[in-house]
Amino acid sequence: MAEQHRPVTVHELLGMKQRGERIVVLTCYDALFARLLDGSGVDVLLVGDSVNQVLAGAETTLSATLDQMIYHTKIVRRGAERAMVVCDMPFLTYQVSREDAIRNCGRVMAETGCHGVKLEGGKPVAETVRALVDVGIPVMGHLGLTPQSVHALGGYHVQGRDEPASERLKEDAQALEAAGAFAIVLELIPAPLASQITKSLTIPTIGIGAGPACDGQVLVLHDMLGLNDRFSAKFVKRYAALADDAREAVKRFAAEVREGRYPGPEHSFGK
Ligand code: KIV
Repeated sequence: MAEQHRPVTVHELLGMKQRGERIVVLTCYDALFARLLDGSGVDVLLVGDSVNQVLAGAETTLSATLDQMIYHTKIVRRGAERAMVVCDMPFLTYQVSREDAIRNCGRVMAETGCHGVKLEGGKPVAETVRALVDVGIPVMGHLGLTPQSVHALGGYHVQGRDEPASERLKEDAQALEAAGAFAIVLELIPAPLASQITKSLTIPTIGIGAGPACDGQVLVLHDMLGLNDRFSAKFVKRYAALADDAREAVKRFAAEVREGRYPGPEHSFGK
């Protein structure tokens, strides 16, 4: 775990990689969970555009909006003291032009108080990453299965399986590091490839479905807590079964209300 001063900085993440300390990242969408995760020592809270699927019920992340991400990042920031907060930039807020990217990422930083932004893509966004870093915005990259390109990729499949694709990913990672990114998420790529990329970089890699050699790991909070139990994937380990617990609690509440057992005298006011 990083040192206990606040908040965790990009420099501390680099130091953690150098010391071989694993970086703990979880997605987070609200202040309540932010307080809980922060108090449990999570290093980075990623306000993923997966919020559009997990909480808003959309098919993909593509319809997430800048206002939506600003709202969620702002409320996560309220609950975080020690953890670094990173906002996922939604589709088409950084791809159209560099000016647009600076304006949108700048707005996110200014309005939410977050500590960095995340962009998907490699070489094609490297110049944009450079421009953002030059104006003082810390950028996390995201390679492999990049969900904003799900239709171009033909679904949520493991990436970088053949030689040309794995070479491209290695080059993309180098391009992001050279552009000044402070870390790179590696999503759904073979473990040996993630290991090679991790060894070739000075900045940390954060894996999701990318094997154990990455410098850190991220999961979608609602998946690992078993709250979003309609989603399962090989790389997701469920550490709890909160959807089962919630259903059980709601059934007990409903039964007690229907049978007149709740509220009891201990929940009622005499005067
Ligand atoms: O949107 C998201 O939650 C993400 C993580 C899964 C890396 O990008």
